[in-house]
Amino acid sequence: MARLIVVSNRVATPTETKGSAGGLAVGVFGALKDAGGVWFGWSGDVVSETVANAGPTLDQEGPVTFATVGLTKKDYDQYYRGFSNATLWPVFHYRNDLARYERDEYAGYRRVNAWLAHKLVKLIEPDDIIWVHDYHLIPFAEALRSEGVRNRIGFFLHIPFPSPQVLQTIPPHEELVKSLCCYDLLGFQTRNDQQAFHDYIAREAHGTVRELGEATKPGKGAETAGEVEEEGVLEAYGRTLHTGVYRIGVFPDEIAEQAARYESRQHVLDLKQSLEGRKLIMSVDRLDYSKGLVERFQAFEQLLEHSPEWRGKVTLVQIAPPTRSDVASYKVIREELEREAGRINGRYSGLDYTPIRYLSQQYDRWKLMSLFRESQVGYVTPLHDGMNLVAKEYVAAQNPEDPGVLVLSIFAGAAAELAGALLVNPHDATGMSEALEHALSMPLEERKERYHTNMEALRRNDLGVWRDRFLSDLARVPHQR
Ligand code: G6P
Repeated sequence: MARLIVVSNRVATPTETKGSAGGLAVGVFGALKDAGGVWFGWSGDVVSETVANAGPTLDQEGPVTFATVGLTKKDYDQYYRGFSNATLWPVFHYRNDLARYERDEYAGYRRVNAWLAHKLVKLIEPDDIIWVHDYHLIPFAEALRSEGVRNRIGFFLHIPFPSPQVLQTIPPHEELVKSLCCYDLLGFQTRNDQQAFHDYIAREAHGTVRELGEATKPGKGAETAGEVEEEGVLEAYGRTLHTGVYRIGVFPDEIAEQAARYESRQHVLDLKQSLEGRKLIMSVDRLDYSKGLVERFQAFEQLLEHSPEWRGKVTLVQIAPPTRSDVASYKVIREELEREAGRINGRYSGLDYTPIRYLSQQYDRWKLMSLFRESQVGYVTPLHDGMNLVAKEYVAAQNPEDPGVLVLSIFAGAAAELAGALLVNPHDATGMSEALEHALSMPLEERKERYHTNMEALRRNDLGVWRDRFLSDLARVPHQR
């Protein structure tokens, strides 16, 4: 069996892969453990040029080598904070209004990709399969190819892929798409994302796109039996490449077990006691403008405004740890959210009641799962999201005898799979407040039915299926050396 090399901007630490990290890290590490190999990327540290150039630092954990490098301040600013998170992230989430483009940052983005590729080359063996993750690393295969690497290289995009007109707002859009064509296989979260890429290739790059329909059997990863999953074979910029839809999942039974194991821990009991019998709506997101947090608070406000019987009877707990706080748009969203929470609480609090508990703190994963299990509603309403694993975790964490209801945005990738959720448009505050009311008053039988529908989808397409399908397709696609 060929070794696997995983490349991602962030690399989990060996300790994190044993439990505290999110499902993705655990899933990727599982594949690495089976095949043996290397997990390569940024350590998360900003270091001096001397330290950066001395890397990678190697850390061995059984058959897996964790290889990480630090970034200099300039590289961090241009590659991570700049082009990745102030240009690509907003545009790929359809927020061109928040994006900026700086030539220097784009040059830094390409420079860091080339430098990272150069660092990795020494660790690659001829038969290794290389799996690159996410928007930080679009030019990575091209950089490896120019170092003479001839291995199979696949890329999975965790975030949405924008339609051509939106992508074109990034001045070097064509270079980015050309770079993507240096991969052998491109994986997308949803059919819409794959289609947007195909559209660019057909209309803007004048390439050819062949879509091969394959009726996918249940158990093979499609959300409903008989659904057609598409494989794309593309020719563009002198290369042939394949595309596919691979919906990332979770390990639902492990989450269920973890949520049940911790449900009577002190933090859950404390929360329960403080609620004094009120219903609980839970939300957990990174503090990001793509998550629709302000719209979510306002829809909750509408519930209290239009259905006074809920005042004092329901609490929204929003956990939103700040991220990327040195990118300007993240400061703005934080201020806006704090203002909204304060305003709504000022309006509807009582001496013994606060409608929104807003916590801008990081919580351990196991704690979150047990809090999900305690709540009556999971409120996941991003404006745009590649998949949104929180939605899947919420379902998996429920008590099958008394499950909570998932209220989910139609713009989360997960909406295509979770037919048992109450789907909402995050731009429609009234619709969302109605869905909250529906969820809060749903009879047990209907909750159970919806829960089972969702759990079946999660089991059919778990994280292992996602990972194995991608890797077996990458090993199978014709390889252009
Ligand atoms: C998203 C991206 C990931 C990224 C994560 C955390 O889920 O798809 O690639 O690692 O956000 O963002 P951060 O900037 O803190 O790594």
